[in-house]
Amino acid sequence: MKIGFVGLGKLGLPVALAVESKGHDVVGYDISQNVKNIIEAKKIPYKEIWAQDYLDKSNIKFEQLDKVVSHSEIIFVPIQTPHDPLYEGITRIPDKRVDFDYTYLISGMKKLSAEIEKQGSDKVVIIISTVLPGTIRQQIKPFLGKHTKICYNPFFIAMGTTMKDFLYPEFILFGVDDLKAANKAEKFYRTINNATFFKTTIENAELIKVSYNTFISTKIAFINTIMEMCHKLPNTNVDDVTNALMLGNKRLISGAYLRGGMGDGGGCHPRDNIALSWLARKLNISNDFFDQIMMQREKQTDWLVELIIQNQIKNKKTYILGKSFKPETNIMTGSPSILLDNLLKEKGIEAIKYDPYVDQNKPVFEQGVYFIGTKHEIFEKFKFPHGSVVIDPFRMINQELEHVKVIRIGNNNDI
Ligand SMILES: NC(=O)c1ccc[n+]([C@@H]2O[C@H](COP(=O)([O-])OP(=O)(O)OC[C@H]3O[C@@H](n4cnc5c(N)ncnc54)[C@H](O)[C@@H]3O)[C@@H](O)[C@H]2O)c1
Repeated sequence: MKIGFVGLGKLGLPVALAVESKGHDVVGYDISQNVKNIIEAKKIPYKEIWAQDYLDKSNIKFEQLDKVVSHSEIIFVPIQTPHDPLYEGITRIPDKRVDFDYTYLISGMKKLSAEIEKQGSDKVVIIISTVLPGTIRQQIKPFLGKHTKICYNPFFIAMGTTMKDFLYPEFILFGVDDLKAANKAEKFYRTINNATFFKTTIENAELIKVSYNTFISTKIAFINTIMEMCHKLPNTNVDDVTNALMLGNKRLISGAYLRGGMGDGGGCHPRDNIALSWLARKLNISNDFFDQIMMQREKQTDWLVELIIQNQIKNKKTYILGKSFKPETNIMTGSPSILLDNLLKEKGIEAIKYDPYVDQNKPVFEQGVYFIGTKHEIFEKFKFPHGSVVIDPFRMINQELEHVKVIRIGNNNDI
């Protein structure tokens, strides 16, 4: 099929490549010159599995908007819906909550719809961007022309594995406004995979997308609370608790995201929680559950700061190993490790931070307190200086180290 993309950012470009890999004829447009350069130079600047290999052999053309419209039967729109930096999850959450910023999406959709009307034939337009429930009907549909057949199809992908997650999803979520458009989209998806095509209202789809993300945050907030309990209860170990809970896979769902560690992070989850907290307050929901998820994350980080303070060595430095929000990536958006650094600063502690995926140069490592903020495998073999204290929230240092004290958070069997 002839497929178009309006927006070829971190979600759009890998998905466009995945669609092309299934034999579709793909073109795309983006307002950013930088994106045009990436496609023309065939060089992806972020870590994303498969994407560089697929781009090397890709024929995706960067076109202007009019060409994308005339070329395409289906147009995907993954334009950014950013949050204010205060709501990223690397600082304390302000009392005031806000929705996402829809300015870019609205502007892009206005131009796209105007171009479709100008050309005068029906086009299926599928918004992928994350929005809160009610946004598309209230803020986008009113200005669309009659030839723009809108659908809402958010993806459940994780950065770093976008193409894989798109090609092999658990299910396809599809918010329907026009049944004919949805049927055409379903036909397209059958060329990609056989995953369940879950059709529902646009508002349900909007809500399901953010609920999925906050469900993950809920699991992490829950197990991290248990981890702190284990840290304070003799003869307990969070990993034993988790291993048992995972066996309850009929009633408790899967064991994914059920390992104690740092709080939830990334460009989607913390901000989605905060936006849902805004919506909960707007709707006067009796209990703002989303606030509690975020407060668990923030208070756990306060507790980790206290642990660092308790273990400081006089006149010695504090180190944070890892800055990215998850292992083996260099993306620091919404990183709980950066939140920890910011909360340490409130106490006057300037930690030395190092992440092998982010930094070119290594600092000098001296005796001090080392906090493992990201579960990069490389830290398992890290040479901690003599006399240091290591705080390990992932319990990844699984052997005794000579002349180094290791605090394995949540394992009270051996501390
Ligand atoms: N990246 C992810 O892992 C991910 C996962 C699920 C959902 N999402 C959602 O998808 C949306 C996009 O995310 P992203 O990470 O790709 O953002 P991004 O900022 O990397 O990409 C958005 C792209 O849209 C382009 N753009 C903006 N206005 C435009 C316009 N008028 N016309 C054409 N292009 C325009 C930007 O230049 C940019 O390249 C967001 O709503 C995000 O929440 C992202």
